[in-house]
Amino acid sequence: MASLALKTVPSTFARGIAARSFASSAARFQAVPTQKPVLAKEFKIYRWNPDEPAKKPTLQTYKIDLNQCGPMILDALIKIKNEVDPTLTFRRSCREGICGSCAMNINGQNTLACLCRIDRDASKDTKIYPLPHMYIVKDLVPDLTLFYKQYKSIEPYLKNDNPPEGREYYQSIEDRKKLDGMYECILCACCSTSCPSYWWNQDEYLGPATLMAAYRWMADSRDSYTSQRKEKLQNEMSLYRCHTIFNCSRTCPKGLNPAQAIAKIKLELAAE
Ligand code: SF4
Ligand code: FES
Repeated sequence: MASLALKTVPSTFARGIAARSFASSAARFQAVPTQKPVLAKEFKIYRWNPDEPAKKPTLQTYKIDLNQCGPMILDALIKIKNEVDPTLTFRRSCREGICGSCAMNINGQNTLACLCRIDRDASKDTKIYPLPHMYIVKDLVPDLTLFYKQYKSIEPYLKNDNPPEGREYYQSIEDRKKLDGMYECILCACCSTSCPSYWWNQDEYLGPATLMAAYRWMADSRDSYTSQRKEKLQNEMSLYRCHTIFNCSRTCPKGLNPAQAIAKIKLELAAE
């Protein structure tokens, strides 16, 4: 045993020296990370503070190094808030186009900040405003109270007076397919707030997001309230303020087509 111990000690010692000399030579040859040059870009961001109501809204300029920032507009906003100006206010949650909370107007287009890439051309600034024609809570945060009230008004849930007993609702594959392109809506409000008819009549016109949700339930084979749902839209304002401008479908960051859903409602109402 003793001779074994005597043999083990020097070999461990030798391995330690070998490991140290390998580590130091590896360190010598390790690539030193090169610092990317600064790529400074200006972001002009809408600011308004309800605590200073007498002060007009302004566009505030922030400069950040794109080489020290993630690729999306939301990354830039978070960097500004964390490192430059903690008073900058905006909504965000999922950072992957699912929650709809980071909807805003970026360089003239309503979209989601987390899905919108920063234009890396540093010679051009990026202008960021809240969703247009909305009351503003603060900076980039619009008041969506009316939008949600309108959504609630169409009763966006399954209504059926004779639900199947002791089993789930059956739906054929074909009927289920009719909901594709509508159920994916994340209620970001980009479409409704891009619509001139909604800008001028939003107290009575439901707007593309809510109308597409209304059609999503009309088209659902499990729902038995289709005629009542249609009846609610048979008036001058709720639906027919849509003048097929198509801003809604052009701007939807999820690639949905609310204009098509509205056209289908109009067709179904006309056929009655
Ligand atoms: S249809 Fe598109 S733009 Fe409109 S609320 Fe839904 S996801 Fe947003
Ligand atoms: S943070 Fe959720 S959609 Fe952008």
